[in-house]
This record gives sequence, C-alpha cells and structure tokens, in this order.
Amino acid sequence: MTSTDSRSDGAAGAAPASDVAAGAAPAPNPHATAEQVEAARHDTKLAQVLYHDWEAETYDEKWSISYDKRCVDYARDLFDVTVPYEEQHKLPYDRALELGCGSGFFLLNLMQAGVARRGSVTDLSPGMVKVAVRNGENLGLEVDGRVADAEGIPYDDDTFDLVVGHAVLHHIPDVELSLREVVRVLKPGGRFVFAGEPTNAGENYARPLSTLTWKAVTNVTRLPGLSGWRRPQTELDESSRAAALEAVVDLHTFSPGDLERMARNAGAVEVLTATTEFTAAMLGWPLRTLEAAVPPGRLGWGYAKFAFNSWITLSWIDENLWSRVVPKSWYYNVMITGVKPTAD
Ligand SMILES: C[S@@+](CC[C@H](N)C(=O)[O-])C[C@H]1O[C@@H](n2cnc3c(N)ncnc32)[C@H](O)[C@@H]1O
Repeated sequence: MTSTDSRSDGAAGAAPASDVAAGAAPAPNPHATAEQVEAARHDTKLAQVLYHDWEAETYDEKWSISYDKRCVDYARDLFDVTVPYEEQHKLPYDRALELGCGSGFFLLNLMQAGVARRGSVTDLSPGMVKVAVRNGENLGLEVDGRVADAEGIPYDDDTFDLVVGHAVLHHIPDVELSLREVVRVLKPGGRFVFAGEPTNAGENYARPLSTLTWKAVTNVTRLPGLSGWRRPQTELDESSRAAALEAVVDLHTFSPGDLERMARNAGAVEVLTATTEFTAAMLGWPLRTLEAAVPPGRLGWGYAKFAFNSWITLSWIDENLWSRVVPKSWYYNVMITGVKPTAD
C-alpha cells in the first residue's frame, strides 16, 4: 500500500492538529489516504503529521542517523559550536526537552555525549515520538515522550534546564510564538539550543542541486542495463507524492539576524547564532538525494565511507578556510542559542 492509497486498511486517521495541541496521544498513521493528503495541502500541521508519520520508521535509515560515536560527536559538535565555551562547566543539565524530536537524533545523542541527564522527547508526529522513545529505551537512557505542538508546549513554566531542537524551527508556522513557549518552560537561567535550520542563502543552492540529482538519477536509471539501480516505480511515485507534501511542511528559511531578533522578542537574552556547512552542503544534499533515488543498500559500504569522509573533509575546509572569506549567512545551517533571564 502506498502513502496515498485510498484504502486505509484500518490504520488510525491522522489526528487533527487541535487534538495534538490539546495533549491527546493519537496513534501513528504511516499510511495516509488520498483524501488526507489532499486536505494536508491546505493544513500545514496535518501535513507535518502525515509526512513525518509516513517516514518515522525509516527515518534513521533515510538520514543515516546512528546512535554511535559518529552521530554522538556530530550532535556534540553542533552544541559546542553554538554554546559559549564557558557554559561547559554546567554540564550535564539535569532535565532537557526536545521539540520536533523526530527519531531522537539530537537529544538522545546529546545525552550520550554527557550534555543532559534526563530527557523528554516531543513531536507533532505520534510516529516520531514512538520511534524516539524506543530509541532512547534501547540506549538505556532516562527518556519519556509526548506528542506536542511546539507552538503550545504542554509543560508547566520553569520546568527544564535545557530545551533543544534540530531542523524543527523551519516547520513551525509562528516561530516567535514557539520561542516564547521555549522561554516559558525553561527555568530562569536555562538555555535553549536549536541547530540545523536552513539559511535563506543555503536553500538557494541546496534544493536546486537536490532536484537536479533526482532528475538525473531517475532518468539515467531508465537506460538498458541500469535497471538494477532503479527503485520500483511505485516507490518512486510514493517519493514524488511525499516531495509534494515536503513543499507544504517546509515553511521557512532564515538569516541569522532574523532568528536572533525573534529570540530576543520572545524574551531570551545572551542570544547567539553560528552557521555551518558551505561546500559540505553542496556535496551533502546531492548525495542524500542519490541515496534516496536508488534501491536501499545499492551503493554499498565503500560509497558510504567515501560520502562520510568527503563530507568531513569539506566541513573542515568550510570551518577553517572558507569561513575567512565567505559571509556567515551564506552557509547552509544556522544554529541559535539563548538564555531565559533570571529575576535579578
Ligand atoms: C526535519 S524533522 C527533524 C527531526 C529531528 N529533530 C532530526 O533532526 O532528525 C522535523 C520534525 O519536526 C516535527 N514538527 C513539525 N512541526 C512541528 C510542531 N509544530 N511542533 C512539534 N514538532 C513539529 C516533525 O513532525 C518532524 O518530526
């Protein structure tokens, strides 16, 4: 059954966004009906739930997410690049919250890296919360999970020492409202860290490169003798339909200055931004698209090693060489941190 099959075969319907916001715990819906997908074109939060429930169980594989040294180091590097060095003596934070946790990549790996002791993983997609909690349990971490809308976080004021998110702010309709919610649930002096947000400039080169790669691979693999490199047409059609929803769920790109302004308006202090990945993103996006366009596992271990090492090398060049001449706002990823003011 494809994601748009009109037979839902008893799968639970996608929860309306209002139920999710009210704290109900709807079941994952990995097989949306054609009617639901059509409705989602005009309802960004329904689109978030359908799209992310659909990809939840395969998300780690799709994005090469792991919970070993590779991704633990990557998550910790993002934290270290964003948070001032003097903050390191506060680690570990006691209680941390993740918004838009997906499968748990950021918080679970930060917990493994010694950044936080206890974690609450939340997401609008029930499927993602289920996977993130399961991943946390498998790692033996102290984690609980909840379906939650970042625009109305279902926790009391002054609850958390740290709030984190990765690649989530650009999906939220009212980012400033969400940051106000973040400041509300933080304890005074508590910190937030959001990483992996697309910049205005980065989107101008990453998306066209991905689109070009998709077209090239799906056309070249039609040639005789290359059929073993072509995914079945039903899967390619499903990916195209998912891509249509992707256009509905990706709401914003940011300049570092925009994000800083929103965080200050939301009541945060000590606001700072950093950016990463310039040439690394120009390589990374086409490679990820290539991986999605061919049958799983087809590219093999040698390719995976080449892709990872090339990305590491280009990231180093971006950080140490290009950063001297290329404006910060041209990089692909922007990160932001800030603090909830204390009373005095
Ligand atoms: C691109 S994924 C990133 C997942 C994960 N943080 C990662 O980096 O792998 C964005 C996630 O944000 C979630 N999301 C989108 N809008 C949201 C909202 N308003 N509140 C909470 N989560 C949201 C989606 O369901 C999805 O799991």
